[in-house]
Amino acid sequence: MRRLLAVFPVLLCVLLGAPAGVGAAAHEVTYDRYSLKVDGERLVLQSAEFHYFRLPSPELWRDVLEKLRAAGFNAVSIYFSWAYHSPKPGVYDFTGVRDVDRLLRTARQAGLYVIARPGPYINAESTGGGLPAWVKTVPGRARSSAPGYQAAYREWLHRINPIIARHQVTGGGPVILYNAENEYQVNTDAAYMQDIQDQARADGIDVPITTNDCCDAGSWSSTWATGPGAVQIPGVDDYPQSFECATPEVWGPWGEGLTERLRDDIPVFAAEYQAGAIDLGNAGYDRCRELTGPAYMKYFYKNNLVTTGATMFSYYMGYGGTNWGWLAQPNDVYTSYDYGAAITEARQLTPKYDEFKRQGYFLEAVAPLAKTDPVTSPAAPDNPALTTTARANPDTGTQFVLVKHADRTATGTDDATLDWAAPDGRHRVPVRVKGRDAHVLVAGYDLGGQRLVLSTSEIMTHASIGGRDVAVLYGTAGSPGATILRYGSRPAVKVLEGDVRAEYSGGDLRLDYTHDGLARVLVTGGGRRPLLLLLGTDEAAAGFWRAGTGAGPVLVRGTALVRSASASGDTLRLAADTAGGQIEVFAGPAARRLRIGAEDVPVTRTPSGSLLGSTRAPEPVRLPALTAWRSRAEAPEAAPGFDDSRWTAADHTTTISPHQPKTLPVLYADDYGYHYGNVWYRGHFTAAGSETRIDLNAVTGLRGNYLVWLNGRYLGSAAGGVEADSGDASTPPNPDPGPGHFDLPAGVLRPGADNVISVLVANMGHNDDWIADDLRFKQPRGLVAATVGGPVGGPVGGTVGGTPISWRIQGSPGTDPLRGPLNNGGLYGERTGWHLPTYPDKSWKTASAELTPGVTWLRTAFHLDLPRGQDAPVGLRFGGDPSPAYRVQIFLNGWNVGQYGGDIGPQRDFVLPAGILDEHGTNTIALAVTAEQPVAGPGPISLFTYGNVRQGR
Ligand code: GAL
Repeated sequence: MRRLLAVFPVLLCVLLGAPAGVGAAAHEVTYDRYSLKVDGERLVLQSAEFHYFRLPSPELWRDVLEKLRAAGFNAVSIYFSWAYHSPKPGVYDFTGVRDVDRLLRTARQAGLYVIARPGPYINAESTGGGLPAWVKTVPGRARSSAPGYQAAYREWLHRINPIIARHQVTGGGPVILYNAENEYQVNTDAAYMQDIQDQARADGIDVPITTNDCCDAGSWSSTWATGPGAVQIPGVDDYPQSFECATPEVWGPWGEGLTERLRDDIPVFAAEYQAGAIDLGNAGYDRCRELTGPAYMKYFYKNNLVTTGATMFSYYMGYGGTNWGWLAQPNDVYTSYDYGAAITEARQLTPKYDEFKRQGYFLEAVAPLAKTDPVTSPAAPDNPALTTTARANPDTGTQFVLVKHADRTATGTDDATLDWAAPDGRHRVPVRVKGRDAHVLVAGYDLGGQRLVLSTSEIMTHASIGGRDVAVLYGTAGSPGATILRYGSRPAVKVLEGDVRAEYSGGDLRLDYTHDGLARVLVTGGGRRPLLLLLGTDEAAAGFWRAGTGAGPVLVRGTALVRSASASGDTLRLAADTAGGQIEVFAGPAARRLRIGAEDVPVTRTPSGSLLGSTRAPEPVRLPALTAWRSRAEAPEAAPGFDDSRWTAADHTTTISPHQPKTLPVLYADDYGYHYGNVWYRGHFTAAGSETRIDLNAVTGLRGNYLVWLNGRYLGSAAGGVEADSGDASTPPNPDPGPGHFDLPAGVLRPGADNVISVLVANMGHNDDWIADDLRFKQPRGLVAATVGGPVGGPVGGTVGGTPISWRIQGSPGTDPLRGPLNNGGLYGERTGWHLPTYPDKSWKTASAELTPGVTWLRTAFHLDLPRGQDAPVGLRFGGDPSPAYRVQIFLNGWNVGQYGGDIGPQRDFVLPAGILDEHGTNTIALAVTAEQPVAGPGPISLFTYGNVRQGR
């Protein structure tokens, strides 16, 4: 029955009745070799990845999702992070910033389908790859059928699946696909892969199940098309540009980026197609945006579209967000997960967004794209520098011709005449292609009420507005364009703007022009309804927004964004962001008035039939200076007399970790339930008097360190072990600045008495489990070896002169119900609430510029009253040069919004997201600064804005 369910979910759903939906009508999802279909209607799935857990402000989810929809995306792909919801076994939280029910409702309201990706493993450069750190203490290989792990992941699936299930398309919700696991390798454990699907079906998932194969491998699908573990629609991940953001000029180092057809009975699915990059080389995300910028998008995305005929695209990432708290996997990312995406971490739109919009609108408007077969190219260029590849819709005959350079790395500009055997006749037309560019040209297309014979301009969109067709076509500025339309008789052609030559002969109206600004041509008569042709450059085309109303679609230009539109009587109302300047609206003749949000915008009618008005510039934003910093040094844990009797005794002698410690007891933080952020250790021993050194070894993940005191005296710091050391975590890790040998200065030791070693160990997050390797995933965090010894005979293990070191450990209580398990570690200030806005800091002293080794907190408050009805995202900027001698945890109103420091990464600007930031009230910034040596503190520190628009809702 389970197998049957997997094969005929939709049919069963229809027969048995849909699961409880969100109220709207149930729909049927099917597919064939060409595309997905909803209620039998073909769909080109154009999805972008978004991680709610990287935007801890549910109000802003709506903003990002609406921005994706406005770019022409019709779907959003969402990983669900198990770690984000579960601090310990059996405990799950889906409230507040973790309210995924709200997330899925918001997606539906934004008009987006959802590809739901609950893992259990998600990778995503998130801590543990989405596996909670407590899974490290569960016996049995993670990502396998091992009983311990199985019980754990089933627990997660039975919590998350029912939520996803009640939002499926089959019940009127947005979830159209369910992605099982992540880049799971065929040779690992097919039963595990099958069980995830069986659990999903049992929990009511009835949409098609997909998975994403890694790296062009196609492993599940090709080898296991029908065997256990096989999914209905496998897809492939492609990252042709790699992650070397420092060299954006290197083109396609990881290949052609052509998504393979995996099976004949399913559409070609680009499950994760590169749309940004992690910043492996610390080049900064602007370089990542360049690496994956509009040129790359034009070439690789269009090449993929026409060469493979893919109709399911999911771009990773549409919006990257923030690794706030301890969300980051430590080896590849720092706080910002901006990803060089089309929408920045601070929700700003970039030129990449424009390119998505040009392509997304095209995919949405031109229906024959959803069903195409490869055909011999009907268009031959007379310049060998250019090549063409083509597909055609077998039902309509519509041709899609890709024109690009034969050498994909070519950088010059080439012209050619295309000899094009289009369905409606043969024509010679000019094309010009810049290096690393590609155009998809269309012929034989019923464009609304028109017949497009062909065009060497690309189609952005077209709409039937007020009884006429309005079409936006575009091309590179300065390049020649030719558009041919077919008429029953000679039509009247009126060039309203620009330089366009028209010629009619034998039923064909041929328009020739150069792409320059925005030309406008009105064609009437000829046996068809009127056509307003808008011929623009890439830039002019990107200025258009399309939205639907009850009275039909509208096109808008001159706004920073259009989220939606509605028509009532003679008024057209837009929900739009504006930044001042001219606005033009193409709507039906009934529309005479324009409202943006709650504001009337006076308009006049233009010769193009559009409405023209202007919007007001936003009010300038004034931000206060950050002054009156107060500070307090902490780390009482370092003092010998500190009472640690209530701390957890670290006395385990065994661990299930695949890494065995070199000294006992086991000091792994996870084994004592401390999974995130810093941990403190205190080790008591009675000194013989001959000891001269302490040898420690801690594993922290990349960028981590540890600080050591003996009897209150600071001995120094060392860098912690990293993922590369996971082969044997107890071998000396990161050699720089040394594997933790600390010589004891004279007079510190107290022979015959109690001595206390205090160690503050950072935990930068947990390794991922990319290849289902427990050695990597279960690499411990915290101390992995500790000895006190003398020069003769070397260290004596975990004991001193036969007296064991007796250890206690303290970490985050992990009990903040609002901010969740990843917000805090175990710094004294975190345990005492120094990061919280309510903490009374009046007794703290005025901050001094100098830091002493250990942890110093800095706090200040500021008042904001940003202009209402505007969106001006605020950031915190660290000026000056960051020092490797300190690291700063940044708390905004108690939320851990990031980490700054010379060893942490190149990031100096930190987003303070609205929702956490009170834009009309008092805010508290608390910085926990851990210094390894005496050093000048961070600064100057200031507030700034990333942008400023009026938000008409
Ligand atoms: C993919 C993976 C994603 C993410 C991406 C790189 O292989 O599936 O989760 O890690 O690489 O950002």
